Amino acid sequence: MRKGEKGILVGLVAFAIVAMGVKFFTKPDGTREGDFDLPFYSTAEKDIEKHAGLVLRQYKCRECHTLWGTRDAMQAVPSPPLDGIGSLKTEAWLYEYLSARDPQSMIPSRLKARFRMPSYADMPEDDRRALARYLASLKVKDWYLETAKKTEYEKLTGEDYRP
Ligand code: HEC
Repeated sequence: MRKGEKGILVGLVAFAIVAMGVKFFTKPDGTREGDFDLPFYSTAEKDIEKHAGLVLRQYKCRECHTLWGTRDAMQAVPSPPLDGIGSLKTEAWLYEYLSARDPQSMIPSRLKARFRMPSYADMPEDDRRALARYLASLKVKDWYLETAKKTEYEKLTGEDYRP
């Protein structure tokens, strides 16, 4: 590819990302906080973020879950996004869930066995701790909290959310 073509491609990709952000993250009342104001943020320390990042990749969590708005493109498991999960669940709960032999005893599944949340009870303990800590740091901004709850509820139950 020539230099000029590369520039055009980069421009197009950047435009597509901005357009998606604007579309996906418009407030429920239709107004916007600003084009780059993502509703999600993390309060994680750098070392936890790095450790958890490796674990997330190793165990391919993105095959089923969206994180930072992305997931593996070929997968279509209707599981809840991990973005904002730290505003919905505590670190202790997340650690317990990741350590459960039977995660479905904590969250019942509506899906076929192969799409359900697998047990990570055999994952090394420090990896589970880092992961729980990182997930707990994934927060959602107040203006998006109701939407995040609604999305989680609808993914987990397959039913409409009525607060
Ligand atoms: C095979 C698909 C699959 C993989 C891989 C997977 N999950 Fe899940 N996960 C699910 C599904 C589906 C649910 C919803 C509960 C259910 O149906 O079992 C879920 C639920 C969760 C929840 C609870 C979400 C909520 O809103 O309460 C967390 C946290 C979670 N997964 C984290 C992870 C992490 C971290 C990894 C990687 C280590 C991972 N998952 C890998 C499918 C998956």
